[in-house]
Amino acid sequence: MRKFDTVLVTGGCGFIGTNFIKYIFDKTNYKIINIDALTYAGNIKNLIDIENKDRYFFERVNICDAKKVNSIFEKYKPDCIVHFAAESHVDRSIFGPKNFIDTNIIGTFTLLEAARNLWKDNSDGKLFHHISTDEVYGSLSDTGYFYETTAYDPRSPYSASKASSDHIVKAYYHTYNLPVTISNCSNNYGPYQFPEKLIPLMISNIIEEKDLPVYGDGKNIRDWIFVEDHNNAVFDIIHNGRVGETYNIGGENEITNIDMVNILCEKLAYKMNKDKDYYKKLIKFVKDRAGHDRRYAINCDKIKKELGWQRQYDFNTAIDITIDWYLNNKEWVYDVKSGEYQKWIELNYSSK
Ligand code: NAD
Ligand code: TYD
Repeated sequence: MRKFDTVLVTGGCGFIGTNFIKYIFDKTNYKIINIDALTYAGNIKNLIDIENKDRYFFERVNICDAKKVNSIFEKYKPDCIVHFAAESHVDRSIFGPKNFIDTNIIGTFTLLEAARNLWKDNSDGKLFHHISTDEVYGSLSDTGYFYETTAYDPRSPYSASKASSDHIVKAYYHTYNLPVTISNCSNNYGPYQFPEKLIPLMISNIIEEKDLPVYGDGKNIRDWIFVEDHNNAVFDIIHNGRVGETYNIGGENEITNIDMVNILCEKLAYKMNKDKDYYKKLIKFVKDRAGHDRRYAINCDKIKKELGWQRQYDFNTAIDITIDWYLNNKEWVYDVKSGEYQKWIELNYSSK
């Protein structure tokens, strides 16, 4: 099992990164460096509980800025990098792909170069872990699963930029022997997810009694995993994963979008003492997303067999934890929904 002194996390103010930093900070005594540009999706207040701890350091840095990234690497000399930072929303990638090309491709390249430079004399025990998505594998019809060996077939600017970064990470392993691992995970849900993604958008719109926009026929399928289960898989990979390998992570929990929206309506109705179907009148079928992938489904036998990873949460429990978090953190939702996000929504998405 690997052990580290200093773990540098990119994108630690975003949804999964925030949860990961809290998780690894509690589980280890590692020094944690969080580098994040604080885009619309990054919220520094998420980590207020640990911001004054002496083994936590935050640096506001754009991962495309090679000079700054190199100087941070020289300053802290991390022996592990966990790379979450990305532009992550498919709809935004359709409206404006450039940021996705910059951050997801050039940003990843910049970090790889900095790691290669830092570890050039000795890379023993070091690790660059790249966080990726199942969306790189494309779209499935009613049957079949994504395996680690499935050929890449990305369809959106988002998934194409993530696929590109995965390939570059693999190239650095094969060409320069940079010690890397990659994980490709299915759709996450949980606390701190920006209310533009399906689950937090629907929860916050239900709370505000706003329309619930369901794309197309609502029958697209996603495999949903609780963020903490994703993060404990990443924790297992950085400590025990084989260098050069890819691991799929999934929730084995396929749900159509319309079923998910109905579940959220019913659960919130119960919690708010309303009739079971009270919120369903808000559901509006809207124009489909361009190039909308039909179905994602992950086979994650490899990480289970090799690393003994198992999900800890069942969907029913974890979705309740998630809904309760949004009910108890309305101020957080208001904060992130105003400002930049609001401007973007008015410009591009006034139908929502
Ligand atoms: P997010 O959008 O919530 O957070 C992204 C974070 O990266 C933000 O804090 C943002 O400020 C930061 N960031 C963006 N551009 C940056 C830049 N140029 N320099 C430095 N920081 C920058 O994303 P998320 O949902 O937490 O996803 C994290 C990672 O997990 C991404 O790599 C994503 O592709 C991957 N992933 C996400 C999901 C999911 O369901 N959300 C599923 C599988 C994989
Ligand atoms: P999303 O959360 O954006 O994740 P991804 O596109 O990366 O899977 O969307 C999840 C599913 O929900 C996807 O099939 C698109 C659909 N969707 C809606 O129907 N309405 C919405 O308002 C959003 C944001 C998503």
